Formats: sequence, structure tokens, C-alpha cells
Amino acid sequence: MPCQSDDELNVLVKEAKKYTKDGKVADYIPALGRANPHDLSIAIQFPNGQCISAGDIDRKFTLQSISKVISLAFVLMDRGQSYVFERVGMEPTGDPFNSIAKLETLSPAKPLNPMINAGALVVTHMIKGNGINERFQRLLSFIREMASDSSIQYCEEVAQSEYNTAYLNRALCYFLKHHHIIEEDVEELIDLYTKQCSIEMNCLELARIGMIFAMDGMDPESGKQIIPVHIARICKTFMVTCGMYNASGEFAIKIGIPAKSGVSGGIMGAVPGKFGIGIFGPALDEKGNSIAGIKLLELLSKNYQLSMF
Ligand code: DON
Repeated sequence: MPCQSDDELNVLVKEAKKYTKDGKVADYIPALGRANPHDLSIAIQFPNGQCISAGDIDRKFTLQSISKVISLAFVLMDRGQSYVFERVGMEPTGDPFNSIAKLETLSPAKPLNPMINAGALVVTHMIKGNGINERFQRLLSFIREMASDSSIQYCEEVAQSEYNTAYLNRALCYFLKHHHIIEEDVEELIDLYTKQCSIEMNCLELARIGMIFAMDGMDPESGKQIIPVHIARICKTFMVTCGMYNASGEFAIKIGIPAKSGVSGGIMGAVPGKFGIGIFGPALDEKGNSIAGIKLLELLSKNYQLSMF
């Protein structure tokens, strides 16, 4: 069923688009700096196959930190809860996503949660497989299955650009390696992590992944339980408590749905039991979240009473 452009959504996108001028495209990964800050698009995927959209939904973007919640689901399936949470915590942090500060105050130095970079690096470290290529292909196949699109790939240019400039993430890895939280070669882990972050898709595919989380891991089209229910719930809980970084509290109050953002300007939303949301708006606020994307979710949540609280 093709995704239908929706008049009401178009009105909300037009309203939210005004805020793009107050944001800034991420440029610490040089290849992301070329995005058009005025872009804003959204797709909403319902479990009955219906889909509505507004804006240029064919535009592709890289997942960046949105991939963290997907790799977490994958690793929890691979390794089980106790193994994973012995190595990464469950508590939110009020720090920016790439902060190194808290690690030194903790003993053992395990990162506070899987949504900050330190925690996400530990999660990627736990992806099973023989070599970087096999580990990446396993994660990619999982993402393709959730999005129901076998053509999903990663953007080599963005991956290379982040790999060339990931000094802070390398610092986090060396710290974690010193404390035996990770064991592997840091360059290999950064290679795998930057490829993971550079997996590319459009809003529609992202909305479908959001819908799988919203439906507790079940793909309503195939009837397959892609993610076990308890793992999908853990992921949604992290999305609520840490999905929007140090803006998660305000986001929970104003919008009240599980969501995960990335510095490319993507936001994945999962309205429990109802639908998945994929948004792309590359102009970011000072905390690294899509400025117009958040505004759009605020309007949606108010208009359709989506808050789960
Ligand atoms: O680790 C990084 O810096 C990026 N690949 C992902 C960061 C990110 O998306 C943070 N999101 N708001």
C-alpha cells in the first residue's frame, strides 16, 4: 500500500517548518554538514498497513544515534539481559550524548546507559560474529527485516567521514578498554560503530521500524515476532528515559511517547500499540535533536492526545 500524503499532517509540517531557521545542521561529522536545514518530512505507519506522510519522504538520511536502540534490541537477543546489563547500565544521565565526564566517577566504569555514546559503543562491541563484516551484516539484516526493505545499505561517505573524525569516541573506547569493559581493537570497533550509525533510510522505513517497537516487537504484516516482547519493552523504556538525551525529561512531559533521535535529524517514534513515526529534519537544537522534528511531534501529540502519561 503506497504512503498517502495527508492534509492534516501537511498543515502540521508547515507550522513546524518555521522552527528550522532556529536550528543548525550537525557538522562535527563533515558529511552531515551538507544537509538542507529547511527539510522536514514525516511518515506514520499503522499496523493495518496504512501509512500517511507529509514532506519529501523519499529523502534518505543516516540513522546515527537512532541505531543505538536497534543495536540494543539485537544484542539483548544475542546475549540476554544479564550479560548486557553487567556491561552497560540502565540509568539516565543529564549529560550530553558524547560526554566522557561521568565514566570516571563510576566504579566499575561501565557506562550509565546504552543511549549515550559510551554505552552504545559497549553495545556495538557485544554484537556477535566473525569479524567486522559479519557482525555488521547481521545487524543490517535485522534492520532490513524490521523495515521490510532488503535494499537498505549504509552510506560509505558518512561512515568514512565519521571514522576520520571520531576522536572523542576513540577516547571513550580507550577509557573503556583500560577498564576492561571492552576488549576488542578500538579501530575495529569504531569501524563497526560508524558503519552502524551510517545505515541509511527514509522516513517511511524508519516509521516501519518504529511500528515494530510500538507493536512490542511483532511485525503485523508477516505475523512474525521479530523482537521478543520483553526486549521491545526494555527498548521503549530506554527511549522514554534516555532517547532524547539530556532533553528526555522535557520531551516526556511535552510529548510523552517513546522516541529516539540522531544527529542527522532523524527521530523514530513508537506510540505503544498504535503506530510508528519516522521524521527527518536536519536542523538541530543545542542538544542535538531535530528542532522542527520535536515541534512537529509536540503538535501531533497535542492534536491527537498521544502522550502515554
Ligand atoms: O557517535 C556519534 O557521534 C554519532 N555517530 C551519533 C551521535 C548521535 O546521533 C547523537 N544524537 N543526537
